[in-house]
Amino acid sequence: MAEGFASSAERAAFIAGLPKAELHLHIEGSLEPELMFALAQRNGVAIPFASVEAVRAAYDFSNLQDFLDIYYQGMGVLIAEQDFYELTAAYLARAHADNVRHVEIFFDPQGHTARGVAFETVLAGITRALDDAKAQHGISSKLILCFLRHLSEAEAEATLDEALPWLDRIDGVGLDSSEVGHPPSKFARVFARAKGLGLKIVAHAGEEGPPDYVHEALDLLKVDRIDHGNRSLEDAALVARLAAEGMTLTVCPLSNLKLCVVGDMAAHPLKAMLDAGLRATVNSDDPSYFGGYVNANYVAVADALDLSKADIVTLAHNSFAGSFLDDAEKAQHRAAIDAYA
Ligand code: ADE
Ligand code: ZN
Repeated sequence: MAEGFASSAERAAFIAGLPKAELHLHIEGSLEPELMFALAQRNGVAIPFASVEAVRAAYDFSNLQDFLDIYYQGMGVLIAEQDFYELTAAYLARAHADNVRHVEIFFDPQGHTARGVAFETVLAGITRALDDAKAQHGISSKLILCFLRHLSEAEAEATLDEALPWLDRIDGVGLDSSEVGHPPSKFARVFARAKGLGLKIVAHAGEEGPPDYVHEALDLLKVDRIDHGNRSLEDAALVARLAAEGMTLTVCPLSNLKLCVVGDMAAHPLKAMLDAGLRATVNSDDPSYFGGYVNANYVAVADALDLSKADIVTLAHNSFAGSFLDDAEKAQHRAAIDAYA
């Protein structure tokens, strides 16, 4: 058993009570099958599943695209402001139960506006739930608008235009969806404009795509964080650079397993990342599709890699250090972790 714990159950209990931040969560990926069914009925949207069990059984993916096909279909039940509210409120209640104190949430507006749902409807529902969760649970939040990289840069520019009236509620922009064949360089101009508007910059890179995509995210998009970044480990010079720059990686263990980015959790690179001095964090990505919220991700990877108490405390510290909170807020969370540990 790793240093600091007498058993795996003791480690899980420690993780459960640990204050933490979640930095990589697609709100549409927290749509549980039960809510999908309820919204399909309420909105009169047909879904190709007979039961909640049939939905869960369909969540068997061999790669990112397999998942994305089902993910875009699933979000089709989200129509009204109240739907986005209930989706977000349900996630925040789960996060609170996992002792998450701060969340930085992605949303995919193009997955909704393409279906005729107004940008404003999406934003209003999500932000109302964020405000309520701050009041009810004390959870703070940031909101990150993601561009779908399988679409064009012109479409990303149009989405940024739609976001302009909402910039007081949007903290950053990100890049998600099908990675291979859609390198960060495709979006260099729209990210430069977003940075000029004062937005934080993140991008999925090195999930399925090569280390070159991580280099491009750093050099061309000027990212503040890398989402996933697993394949960075194939490039020793890149690892050295990420460590020297203190770049945060938002790693998602159960996602990596479900999307076959790793064949086995015991082969997950998280421990290697920590040992290489990388600021790795643990996150759930799309928890309803990948089998667990943030604590389940910590437990699965900690058990498979036999992580020590020091490793787990480092991961929690990294989650706040890599967040977009200000220095005083980060210091408060850091103290809370140390008091707990
Ligand atoms: N959209 C939702 N989850 C994603 C992931 N893990 N990678 C790329 N795009 C996504
Ligand atoms: Zn993701």
